Amino acid sequence: MILITGGAGYIGSHCVLEFIKNVSEEIVIFDNLSTGHIETIETLQKISNKIKFIEGDLKNPKDVKKIFKENKIDSIIHFAALSSVAQSIKEPQKYYENNVLGTLNLLNTMVENNVLKIVFSSTAAIYGEPNYTPIDENHPKNPINPYGKTKLSIEEIMSDFDKLYNLKSIKLRYFNVIGANSDSIIGEWHNDETHLVPNILKSTFNNSKIFEIYGDNYNTPDGTCIRDYVNVEDLALAHRLAYNYLLKENVSNEFNIGTKEGNSVKDIFNTVQKTINKQIEFKILPRRKGDPEILLANSKKAQDILGWSAKNTLETSIKTAYEWEKKLQKKLFSF
Ligand code: UFG
Repeated sequence: MILITGGAGYIGSHCVLEFIKNVSEEIVIFDNLSTGHIETIETLQKISNKIKFIEGDLKNPKDVKKIFKENKIDSIIHFAALSSVAQSIKEPQKYYENNVLGTLNLLNTMVENNVLKIVFSSTAAIYGEPNYTPIDENHPKNPINPYGKTKLSIEEIMSDFDKLYNLKSIKLRYFNVIGANSDSIIGEWHNDETHLVPNILKSTFNNSKIFEIYGDNYNTPDGTCIRDYVNVEDLALAHRLAYNYLLKENVSNEFNIGTKEGNSVKDIFNTVQKTINKQIEFKILPRRKGDPEILLANSKKAQDILGWSAKNTLETSIKTAYEWEKKLQKKLFSF
């Protein structure tokens, strides 16, 4: 069985869908439902009877031990984490406890049960302000916010566990993930949304919520931050390829997952307007703390070793995000 932690969340649920369609093994989803949704689990369970759901918290060692006791786990895809950069600056303790301690409990239990393979959801936020772009995997790691620091700490713990216990980990360092399942079965759903694309889309459904651009005085062509936006279904495929690679090669490795294409906040805003054929109001606010000016991925290593590359266009990602957002607004969570 494959254990998928955080499978009720945005990226985790798309990965579950990718695995149930393409991998024969049964799946156990473990999630505390703090940011993920039970409706997402119900939707996934309607699609496949290969999925078992366990509600529990990685911070609680008893919960973690129980999963391994009651299920024959062979490998892990680990998403469960808090992931808002802004919130991590306001509540760093919560981030260290949840992300670092939670993962340490998971890794300790893995070792106790001799389960020694994990694919880990890491992030571009571990690099901090880039010294050069696009960023490759050897770029210095200087995270500028607690969220990025928690993910870097976990990567380092995993490397130490490899040396000591032979625990093999594949770290996927994603850049900015956008879009939704192409059939609108699942999509991005955060109760306190902070991300760019859903925030633009939400403003079109709610007249009192004008879309806000955080800073237009960056040293970029239009003054707004540049990011590398990668489609969530492409990212889910990267997990399956990483999982196959881990099973076959039994090595630890790390890969950047992005497109190498930079888009500014204003580029994304304009593409959304064009894609949904609507004029959208916006206002400029001061910079948001913890936002690097530019983040672009060099994903050549993922292409060379995993055979992965981004396939979906920015327009496709935005279209699928819009279709999903329409469902979310009507509270049609299930298909
Ligand atoms: N932005 C706005 N207005 C909004 C929301 C975002 O202007 O309402 C801007 C941000 O300032 C930033 C860009 O849009 O310049 C992207 O912001 P997001 O919040 O969508 O994404 P982040 O770049 O902050 O973070 C995301 C993930 C992190 C990950 C990071 C790596 O949430 O987990 O990408 O690139 F670490």
